[in-house]
Amino acid sequence: MTPPAAAAGPSAPAVATPVLEARGVFRFRKADGREVPIVRDVGFALRRGEFATIMGPSGSGKSTLLHLLAGLERPSAGQVLIDGEDLSAGDEEQRAAVRRRRIGFIFQFFHLLPDLTVEENVTLPLRILGQRPQKHGARTADLLALLGIDKLRTRRPAALSGGEMQRVSIARALVAQPSLVLADEPTGNLSSKAGEEVVALLRTVTEKLGTTVLLVTHNPRDAAAGDRVLFLHDGALRQNAELTGGPFDVADVFHRLQELGI
Ligand SMILES: Nc1ncnc2c1ncn2[C@@H]1O[C@H](COP(=O)(O)OP(=O)(O)O)[C@@H](O)[C@H]1O
Ligand SMILES: [Mg+2]
Repeated sequence: MTPPAAAAGPSAPAVATPVLEARGVFRFRKADGREVPIVRDVGFALRRGEFATIMGPSGSGKSTLLHLLAGLERPSAGQVLIDGEDLSAGDEEQRAAVRRRRIGFIFQFFHLLPDLTVEENVTLPLRILGQRPQKHGARTADLLALLGIDKLRTRRPAALSGGEMQRVSIARALVAQPSLVLADEPTGNLSSKAGEEVVALLRTVTEKLGTTVLLVTHNPRDAAAGDRVLFLHDGALRQNAELTGGPFDVADVFHRLQELGI
């Protein structure tokens, strides 16, 4: 007997919706009186719990692309979907709401508030969402422990090393349990040892918490930590590669860069 074809609708078998999907995304900017493409026809999707990296040289459009993916800027054409929700459909207020609920950010220069303690910096996104940090005390404590900063909770950023500051900003990015974390060159301001630790922690986070992480870098070593590496050049996605040798296969990343002539 042939089973009836699955009906589309609430009872249909769940096809996993990508956490992040870019469809034909373009971004033009005015330069010398003409519109220049900075991001060109970028399309890809990321699954839940995937650790992906975008590898591209300086000026290739990585930060611009990340802003588009976060809804901080609107694409000139194309769509960005977060958990299936079209970011380009709403106005700025709706995009901000999606951002606050679903996306965490990690920046090269940390962007911690100097007058707040580590714990206050970490829980700031909860307060912005109108939630009482005390309600999430146990989970926040677990998060600080996972990131190895539980002993620093009462310190202020000025009393932290760069690597510690970046761990604090990772905790802050995760505290509101986003589906997606976007990290723009998070090791760019760190020693290579502290940078390696931060990248390894981001991998741990995807494994332990199931968060999807997208890390942008111009460093092949960081890029190689991804299960998936997206190679960007002149604003275009040149290759979307699932690493054959598994994560941390730097030789594979170098080989692909060479093949692509990047
Ligand atoms: N606000 C802006 N106005 C005009 N051009 C910009 C702006 N931001 C970035 N660009 C240009 O867009 C290109 C990509 O920049 P960016 O996204 O910052 O690249 P990356 O992060 O890979 O270094 C560069 O040529 C840069 O000069
Ligand atoms: Mg950049």
